[in-house]
Amino acid sequence: MSGIGYFGIVVLALLGLVVGSVHGDLRMNYYARSCPNAEKIVQDYVKRHIPNAPGLAATFIRMHFHDCFVRGCDGSVLLNFTASTGNQTEKVVVPNQTLRGFDFIDRVKSLLEAECPGVVSCADVISLVARDSIVTTGGPFWRVPTGRRDGSISNASEALSNIPAPFFNLSALQTSFANKGLDLRELVLLSGAHTIGISICTSFANRLYNFTGVLGTQDPSLDSEYAANLIANKCRTITDNTTIVEMDPGSFRTFDLSYYRLVLKRRGLFQSDAALITSSTTRSYIDQILNGSLENFFAEFARAMEKMGRIEVKTGSQGEIRRNCAVVNS
Ligand code: HEM
Ligand SMILES: *[C@@H]1O[C@H](CO)[C@@H](O)[C@H](O)[C@H]1NC(C)=O
Ligand SMILES: *[C@@H]1O[C@H](CO)[C@@H](O)[C@H](O)[C@H]1NC(C)=O
Ligand SMILES: *[C@@H]1O[C@H](CO)[C@@H](O)[C@H](O)[C@H]1NC(C)=O
Ligand SMILES: *[C@@H]1O[C@H](CO)[C@@H](O)[C@H](O)[C@H]1NC(C)=O
Ligand SMILES: *[C@@H]1O[C@H](CO)[C@@H](O)[C@H](O)[C@H]1NC(C)=O
Ligand SMILES: *[C@@H]1O[C@H](CO)[C@@H](O)[C@H](O)[C@H]1NC(C)=O
Ligand SMILES: *[C@@H]1O[C@H](CO)[C@@H](O)[C@H](O)[C@H]1NC(C)=O
Ligand SMILES: *[C@@H]1O[C@H](CO)[C@@H](O)[C@H](O)[C@H]1NC(C)=O
Repeated sequence: MSGIGYFGIVVLALLGLVVGSVHGDLRMNYYARSCPNAEKIVQDYVKRHIPNAPGLAATFIRMHFHDCFVRGCDGSVLLNFTASTGNQTEKVVVPNQTLRGFDFIDRVKSLLEAECPGVVSCADVISLVARDSIVTTGGPFWRVPTGRRDGSISNASEALSNIPAPFFNLSALQTSFANKGLDLRELVLLSGAHTIGISICTSFANRLYNFTGVLGTQDPSLDSEYAANLIANKCRTITDNTTIVEMDPGSFRTFDLSYYRLVLKRRGLFQSDAALITSSTTRSYIDQILNGSLENFFAEFARAMEKMGRIEVKTGSQGEIRRNCAVVNS
């Protein structure tokens, strides 16, 4: 070996560890010593149960996104109301009370607590469950460095102000993502998660019935044939908050490129989807994604997910390792 040699590499590696811990970085396989089976326990549980409930994969990647956008990826999305968490938690408002799967997360967490009590954070459980469920349903793999610690505050009004709304235009989306260190390309890539999953009508009914604030007006950026179809067969009233609609009809379980094709056809379900073709920059990102292979999209999506998973994480001595994901340790 030439150059800096073996000794140099060891020194650099040690330095890396020191710098890493000072910066409180996440790292791959963080639990290798403290709970060697942790990642396997999560993966096994997901592989056993997600095939029976594949729709949860969409819920979990969305839960991870919501967790990361409010006070960083700190598991705060899982907290129940208690006097100490604030008077309304993210769960209460999280747009719009359609997040599910909390019990699934709780079961994974209790397996981990049985194996190594007080070691694996709820924030890491969400991150790992989201990745493993997407992989189990045939979607992209991304790296999940671990070592996140759990927060103790969950605040409904912060959730409302940090999670982008479906009626956001491009500049509002750009600002929302930029506030979390994510750029326009990452906005386009991560929006690609809407290739799976469902929405309730109330998340977009204004586009069908009341776009300008006058009843009977529609969003001109939504394909009129598609709008007519939604009105006739799905969202029959503006207040329908129970009917669910596939966001990528026909392949809403398959993580593929068809979301971007729909957006180009003006059939994205939300204004936030439609917004992605309102600038030449984001429009060309979509053209590039569609011009490339699925593998290429997966690789780029993976980098964006790994970055999202690092937003404002608590590490080292910050936060805590919650024993029960729904409540702060007493
Ligand atoms: C760009 C801003 C975004 C907006 C405005 C937005 C908005 C929404 C809304 C309104 C829903 C439907 C919720 C409901 O009515 O039940 C939804 C669903 C979903 N979102 Fe997003 N989202 C955004 C970005 C993301 C990102 C970054 C991800 C993940 C990386 C994501 C993943 C999902 C998934 C998978 C679903 C389906 C959930 C399910 O089937 O349970 N979204 N989104
Ligand atoms: C948290 O809230 C959910 C739903 O309201 C409930 O089922 C669960 O038992 C609660 N968990 C704790 C630990 O209070
Ligand atoms: C929640 O956050 C908002 C905005 O930051 C703040 O004004 C409010 O006091 C917080 N509520 C609680 C209960 O901490
Ligand atoms: C919740 O907090 C808001 C503002 O922080 C306050 O106006 C409201 O009274 C509180 N509600 C409860 C039930 O504590
Ligand atoms: C949640 O739903 C209410 C009405 O059902 C709506 O006014 C509000 O804008 C929705 N919030 C988001 C973020 O979608
Ligand atoms: C986007 O939305 C924001 C906030 O609602 C608004 O201030 C802005 O004028 C809108 N921009 C465009 C280009 O419509
Ligand atoms: C239509 O939109 C306007 C303006 O946003 C709002 O005040 C009104 O309540 C909406 N009507 C319905 C039926 O949702
Ligand atoms: C749906 O609407 C009904 C009636 O307006 C309301 O009681 C219920 O809480 C709503 N559900 C959700 C999830 O918003
Ligand atoms: C699509 O790919 C071809 C060949 O790889 C390239 O020449 C072309 O410029 C690309 N178009 C876009 C819009 O990226």
